[in-house]
Amino acid sequence: MSVQTIRNVFSVETGYRLSDDQIVNHFPNHYELTRKDLMVKNIKRYRKELEKEGSPLAEKDENGKYIYLDFVPVTFMLPADYNLFVEEFRKNPSSTWIMKPCGKAQGKGIFLINKLSQIKKWSRDSKTSSYKLGFCRFCTVKYTPSTSELDNMFVHLTNVAIQKHGDDYNHIHGGKWTVSNLRLYLESTRGKEVTNKLFDEIHWIIVQSLKAVAPVMNNDKHCFECYGYDIIIDDKLKPWLIEVNASPSLTSSTANDRILKYNLINDTLNIAVPNGEIPDCKWNKSPPKEVLGNYEVLYDEEMAQSDGPERDLRSRPGQSTGTKGNRGRDTGKPALTTWK
Ligand SMILES: Nc1ncnc2c1ncn2[C@@H]1O[C@H](COP(=O)(O)OP(=O)(O)O)[C@@H](O)[C@H]1O
Ligand SMILES: [Mg+2]
Repeated sequence: MSVQTIRNVFSVETGYRLSDDQIVNHFPNHYELTRKDLMVKNIKRYRKELEKEGSPLAEKDENGKYIYLDFVPVTFMLPADYNLFVEEFRKNPSSTWIMKPCGKAQGKGIFLINKLSQIKKWSRDSKTSSYKLGFCRFCTVKYTPSTSELDNMFVHLTNVAIQKHGDDYNHIHGGKWTVSNLRLYLESTRGKEVTNKLFDEIHWIIVQSLKAVAPVMNNDKHCFECYGYDIIIDDKLKPWLIEVNASPSLTSSTANDRILKYNLINDTLNIAVPNGEIPDCKWNKSPPKEVLGNYEVLYDEEMAQSDGPERDLRSRPGQSTGTKGNRGRDTGKPALTTWK
């Protein structure tokens, strides 16, 4: 069902009631995670709360930066945060900023700026509110920070919706690699250890982003969701969470794409509706290993409940929390069952 249909199903006015054998593929308020501005807001709130609780996860370094929870690019909501943005902009006047409408997708409405005058109109307060498997997407034009290429979206946006209009778009590979190819590439060029750490960190970010929205998400037993995570990896192999998509593209632009997405849909349905039986929203057990397909369990809330944030932190790749920091990577396998 589309996001809009699900909104209607759950709207008070329409008064629908789902029966136990009806399950749907979105949470009614998934936008808490999938709207760019709300995702950042929720992650900021989550960090503040952990900080208030004195959680070791919220520890900061000497510059006041979160040590473990710094995984979204510095973000401002305009026009509301315009003054804060200007302050930050002036600290580094030569940097480039990416401007994105909060509710659009596929690269629509995105542009880059390197001068404040380019967004002058946003200074006025206006009413406009404004899987193990996966793909990595590349630009068809080599990246350059040069300001002369600021308007060239083929350099900056990896969205296939954008790239396919470029002269150098390749219809065979579609500017994509499978994640396993990326892993092989990184293992051979950067080494196995840092590659493992990168993938562990990506999984950790996914878990933390979901924990950030857990308190605001309607936990409706009729709902499941297959989110598409956009992660950018920087030159130091640090992953950054860019956005989460509620309706990741399930159409295919290449043969590999078709295979991956077929398997993705198949595996997702196998988890949501085990054994192809009639759905039962009261069914509340962890799916057995055999039905997971290409999915791997990153987090099991039931198991985590017996533990606090310490477990989260201990499970974080390459991190040590003093005496307790004993990550399973040394033994070849993560020691924890709640996270991977
Ligand atoms: N902070 C960023 N730094 C560098 N590139 C970015 C950043 N944010 C987005 N991009 C690029 O722009 C693309 C589109 O941004 P995204 O937030 O995913 O919006 P959309 O909903 O339009 O896909 C990303 O896939 C990425 O290639
Ligand atoms: Mg995107």
